[in-house]
Amino acid sequence: MDKKFKRHLITAALPYANGSVHIGHLAGVYVPADIYVRYLRLRGEEVLYICGSDEHGVPITFKAKELGCTPQQIVDKYHAVIKDSFHRFGISFSIYSRTSSKIHAQTAAEFFMNMYKQGKFIEQESEQFYDPVAKVFLADRYIVGTCPKCGNPDAYGDQCEKCGSTLSPDELIEPHSKLSGERPIKKSTKHWFLPLDQYEPWLKEWIIEGHKEWKTNVYGQCKSWLDGGLKPRAVTRDLDWGVPVPVEGGEGKVLYVWFDAPIGYISNTKELLPDSWEQWWKSNDTRLIHFIGKDNIVFHCIVFPAMLKGHAGGYIIPENVPANEFLNLEGDKISTSRNWAIWLEDYLEQFQGQQDVLRYVLCANAPETKDNDFTWKDFQARNNSELVAIYGNFVNRALVLTHKYFDGKVPGYKEEELTDQDKEFINSIPVITKELQENLNHFKFREAIKEAMNLARLGNKYLTDTEPWKIYKTNPDRVAVILNLSLQLCANLAIAFEPFCPFSSKKLQYMLGLAEQNNEVCPTSAPQGKIRWELLGRRDFLQQGDSLNPAELLFAKIEDEAIDAQIQRLADIKKANAAKAKEEGGKSLLPQKEECTIEEFDKMDIRTATVLQAEAVPKTDKLLKLTIDTGIDQRVIVSGIAEYYKPEEMVGKQICILANLKPRKIRGIESKGMILMAKEPNGKMRFVTPQEPLSNGCIIG
Ligand code: 2FM
Ligand code: ZN
Repeated sequence: MDKKFKRHLITAALPYANGSVHIGHLAGVYVPADIYVRYLRLRGEEVLYICGSDEHGVPITFKAKELGCTPQQIVDKYHAVIKDSFHRFGISFSIYSRTSSKIHAQTAAEFFMNMYKQGKFIEQESEQFYDPVAKVFLADRYIVGTCPKCGNPDAYGDQCEKCGSTLSPDELIEPHSKLSGERPIKKSTKHWFLPLDQYEPWLKEWIIEGHKEWKTNVYGQCKSWLDGGLKPRAVTRDLDWGVPVPVEGGEGKVLYVWFDAPIGYISNTKELLPDSWEQWWKSNDTRLIHFIGKDNIVFHCIVFPAMLKGHAGGYIIPENVPANEFLNLEGDKISTSRNWAIWLEDYLEQFQGQQDVLRYVLCANAPETKDNDFTWKDFQARNNSELVAIYGNFVNRALVLTHKYFDGKVPGYKEEELTDQDKEFINSIPVITKELQENLNHFKFREAIKEAMNLARLGNKYLTDTEPWKIYKTNPDRVAVILNLSLQLCANLAIAFEPFCPFSSKKLQYMLGLAEQNNEVCPTSAPQGKIRWELLGRRDFLQQGDSLNPAELLFAKIEDEAIDAQIQRLADIKKANAAKAKEEGGKSLLPQKEECTIEEFDKMDIRTATVLQAEAVPKTDKLLKLTIDTGIDQRVIVSGIAEYYKPEEMVGKQICILANLKPRKIRGIESKGMILMAKEPNGKMRFVTPQEPLSNGCIIG
């Protein structure tokens, strides 16, 4: 760990207070941040873990309108729910506050004012959409109309949720205001812009030159933003929910939610430490780390740092931003509107006392370098064959045997009694813990948790190889050595697993007599006593004669019924969603296209072909490069179907192609033709295939 830093300021993205938290949020942000913070605390580092609810923004006002209540009522409700479920899940924030607090409004307004006075904003009049009946400017979300791409009649002015297209209100067919139903008009309004373009050279120097060690996904996204050139961004909005713009001409306007939200990290620190917050935010020996999801990268790596720099108040900028990719659920994108999620509150109720299982699975399968999938079967398998069968089993064997043979007292041994087998076991421990630590230092939590499990694996192997239960009668002294060393490894495990699985670690600490029972699992300071990172690898946690507490199972087997119930729940949701889509599908199908002649159709050479090879086009999310057999030749087609099909799923499939489409270069690859795809009203695409296998090259027409 870099010793030039005296303290660590760790932030986790402030969740919007208009819904509950789900496994995607947990895997992407809160679990990794909590692991890291717990690790730092175990190391005795000075650390703050800052979070809170993000309570502004248009969607919250929207939800309030829908439910006929005030935005404040919405955020009050969800703030309480989110805060409580995080705590019950063992997320150990130093503070979890909120952006509707007074201290936040003051801090954000002052921040804006300060930059304003220094002339750091551009004031600009521009034409914006206005509702002439409701007499308010309309955020893009308040304008609805028909999506020009898929025909969805309920597309928003910024996005169509059916086909996922990014839109601007100008593109909508028959736009109307969500408030009055009236067609919006354009009206001039003044806003304040942060001229990001002016920060471009500095940002390039800082990130592109200075932070090559950042995760590839983060660095790559920053580079592509910076290479594309930055433009001024409006930091105010015409809205009545948010932090009022504190300058003349700002009446009826608020700070843009993405301007005020990151200032929430500062105001929450201020709320926690009114006298010393500046030491945390304005001192070069503080290491600032933002944990976020990939959709927040631009705000945390470009916009917020530009604000901190522009403010010129001595604020530090992040040392690292270890953003994660997204977690999918059973092969589909998590979606709040489709209820395709596992909600933390539900999990806590349905799997009581099993917080560590979800924490373990979300870390072991975290979307650290690419999007990943959560499945209930994997959840069950990881619990039953890793937590129960390896970690839990080893600990249980060591404790139960000590209770059985030594009356629950730690047996002793003399150094000269150690065999080569014991020494090999002892020497393997620091090798694993070193790897564990290296991975934690580099935000590689998936690798780290594997090493923690390897430590337990080592213990299991040791017991299996030495078989103390077979030799107790003839050689109790040998058993004393084996169990002493096993118990010392249990103490190591209690430390190694604490960042990942704090509930079971506490239980284990208690069973070993190293901690009191019912200790707080969300400590905000370093644990006391022997549970310290620096002691990892040692074998003097427990002394001869120390009493153990009764052995309890650390983890329980999860039966098929519990998993089947969850899978059934998801199947029901899928069915309901499909029925809804079908009902709405009819309404939102695109109208028939213009007439064409048979001669025009005949020009198109459409035929059957088979995919021979498929691979992702590097550095793209959407493109696959397919080598196909068209019957008349073998050729390459580049197709934007990677969102819908994995390369291996395409190999061997029979498809239909437009063979005589003019060849074009896509990402430097010559693509000859196009695959025929059918598009659902919800945007999902499927390739068209003959009803039974045909020869390649059959003409379709
Ligand atoms: O994407 C989100 O959920 C935002 N509410 C994150 C805000 S992070 C920070 F800047 F406050
Ligand atoms: Zn659409």
